[in-house]
Amino acid sequence: MAGFVRELERRGGPALRLEQRAAGGVGCVVWDAALVLAKFLETGACPLARRHVLELGAGTGAVGIMAATLGADVTVTDLEELQELLMVNIENNKHLVTGSVRAKVLKWGEDVTEFQPPPDYILMADCIYYEESLEPLLKTLKDLTGPDTCVLCCYEQRTMGKNPEIERKYFELLQLDFELEKIPLDKHDEEYRSEDIHIMNIHRKQTVSLLNWHSECCQESAELLFTWHGVSVPGVKL
Ligand SMILES: C[S@@+](CC[C@H](N)C(=O)[O-])C[C@H]1O[C@@H](n2cnc3c(N)ncnc32)[C@H](O)[C@@H]1O
Repeated sequence: MAGFVRELERRGGPALRLEQRAAGGVGCVVWDAALVLAKFLETGACPLARRHVLELGAGTGAVGIMAATLGADVTVTDLEELQELLMVNIENNKHLVTGSVRAKVLKWGEDVTEFQPPPDYILMADCIYYEESLEPLLKTLKDLTGPDTCVLCCYEQRTMGKNPEIERKYFELLQLDFELEKIPLDKHDEEYRSEDIHIMNIHRKQTVSLLNWHSECCQESAELLFTWHGVSVPGVKL
């Protein structure tokens, strides 16, 4: 299939050469959100050397491969049909990689056992665009993240058609389990930034899990105590 190359300049040396495809799904080209996120990683705001990184919906692999040139150990993931393009781009840029990078199939909503333990970072560029995939994507995020995982989600705010509604729904659902913080524009790369491309720094809500843990422990201790003393107290389930 015919290809055309997108060069992505790097502060630290030669540009990444990212092959794209003239035909195929939306993942066959480098989207602007990927450029913004890849260049944000280069600012050094997030330490990447020797960190475990997983990219979701990687497409051409631009973001994950950039992370690997910054010393991270990266798994770029996407659907089966993007694997060949991901492997071509990994091969084309392997001389620039100082960490490591491999490609794997990960379909949102499906089992993620092979990607455990939780990575240090999850990277996502332009993955909020398709209504049917919102819930599977959120499930994958919940299944993959640990308390210390930092999710960097970069998206282009679109005003056409169903896009605003999809975006609103995504953030509404996301906020049930995660805390979100917008990375200010002045922290993005000076050149690769745009008013309508946002980067969110997302973490699992700690309070909910701690509270659940606390109430589970309290229930367990109460059960033990009252069973031991052979008493039954109203309101305490034995
Ligand atoms: C708009 S493209 C963005 C590609 C790349 N991140 C970029 O910004 O250049 C969205 C990507 O999400 C992937 N994707 C869509 N639905 C998916 C699903 N259910 N599971 C895994 N990946 C999916 C597509 O294959 C595509 O590569």
